[in-house]
Amino acid sequence: MVFNISLLVTHTNLLVTHINLSITHINFLIIDIIFLIAYTNFLFSYVSKLFFGKIFHFGQSRADRVYARGIWLSISEFLSILLYRKQKETYFARVKLTQKYVDMKTIKLNNGVEMPMLGYGVFQVEPDECQRCVEDALKSGYRLIDTAQAYMNEEGVGNAIKNSGVKREDIFLVTKIWITNFGYEKAKASIEESLRKLQTSYIDLMLLHQPFNDYYGAYRAMEEAYKEGKIRAIGVSNFPSDRLIDLAHNVEVKPMVNQVEAHVFCQQIKATKYMNELDCKVMAWGPFAEGKNNLFTDEVLAKIGAKYNKTNAQIALRYLLQRDMIVIPKTTHIERMKQNMDVFDFELTKEDMDEILKMDTGHSVVIGSHQDPEVTKWFMTLLK
Ligand SMILES: NC(=O)c1ccc[n+]([C@@H]2O[C@H](COP(=O)([O-])OP(=O)(O)OC[C@H]3O[C@@H](n4cnc5c(N)ncnc54)[C@H](OP(=O)(O)O)[C@@H]3O)[C@@H](O)[C@H]2O)c1
Repeated sequence: MVFNISLLVTHTNLLVTHINLSITHINFLIIDIIFLIAYTNFLFSYVSKLFFGKIFHFGQSRADRVYARGIWLSISEFLSILLYRKQKETYFARVKLTQKYVDMKTIKLNNGVEMPMLGYGVFQVEPDECQRCVEDALKSGYRLIDTAQAYMNEEGVGNAIKNSGVKREDIFLVTKIWITNFGYEKAKASIEESLRKLQTSYIDLMLLHQPFNDYYGAYRAMEEAYKEGKIRAIGVSNFPSDRLIDLAHNVEVKPMVNQVEAHVFCQQIKATKYMNELDCKVMAWGPFAEGKNNLFTDEVLAKIGAKYNKTNAQIALRYLLQRDMIVIPKTTHIERMKQNMDVFDFELTKEDMDEILKMDTGHSVVIGSHQDPEVTKWFMTLLK
């Protein structure tokens, strides 16, 4: 009796769970219908055994038949529960992923376009590996992809987007015009080339990769494509504040983003102030300083990470996000892609932020200053 009653309670619980899930997710409908039939029969069998079999004495043989049917149905129910558990795992994995995407913070550019604040960068991702990496990134929930003409992997990005099954309008695609394509005519042609390689009719954000060569001409070509609807937002990359201010005051469509080296060792404090004045968003490239200065084992980051059960990588990204920077970490490993996405469920305190602020060296640790004549000279060699 006690056993039967506890079974009834358990099954009623299961039934309620099933109804809940079938309401929230249509995929459960079929399995729930099977479950419901099995459950109803099962319930009926037990009730028969409990009440009719014992109280009304409807005949031992009939009660036993009903009971036997109940046993068979419970076996089928058990199998359906196994199937249900499998589906449940997939379901909750999907919910978690969707939730992450929903949790993804966005930032509004000065023309009203919403841009995700965390994306996936493909610098130094080999062209033949790029498609697999971007597909993995999209599977992991990334919706912002950062590439460039100079990375030689725009085709891989285009293929991945096409194969992913993710709608184009759900993806924020960024690419950059390389300096050898600067000047109005060349830049105009290169925009068409990027569109072709990326297999898309529009680019979400296009940047001038470096502040050298005829960038005014290239910028005019971007402005034109922007007005034609081929680009949703335009901006620059690696522009020091002086060149950015000059550009912003001499163009029609103000730069919406400046993508610069930014991480815990190079925090761009002063540059951010000028970008804010121009309502130009800061996009942080190399958010892990490409692993320099032992970022992944740094003790300050590790100590803060221990409080939240997060890795150094996650603390480094979270810090930049809380400084309102867009981040585009790169990795070729799917587990790291997921880890780098998992930064929206905690918040650094003011004390944590102040401590990380002290790690700033005030200068580049990856490429050197774009105002250093030696760096400029090196870029000039690329134009030959
Ligand atoms: N505008 C520009 O001039 C410019 C310049 C540089 C970069 N960018 C953009 O910014 C993106 C990111 O910068 P970046 O690629 O230079 O460097 P990054 O993101 O700072 O660092 C990438 C390095 O970190 C490793 N890594 C990633 N996640 C990790 C984790 N969770 N734990 C441990 N190691 C991890 C990667 O290794 P594995 O790949 O082996 O995992 C790789 O060696 C680029 O892909 C590109 O889109 C732009």
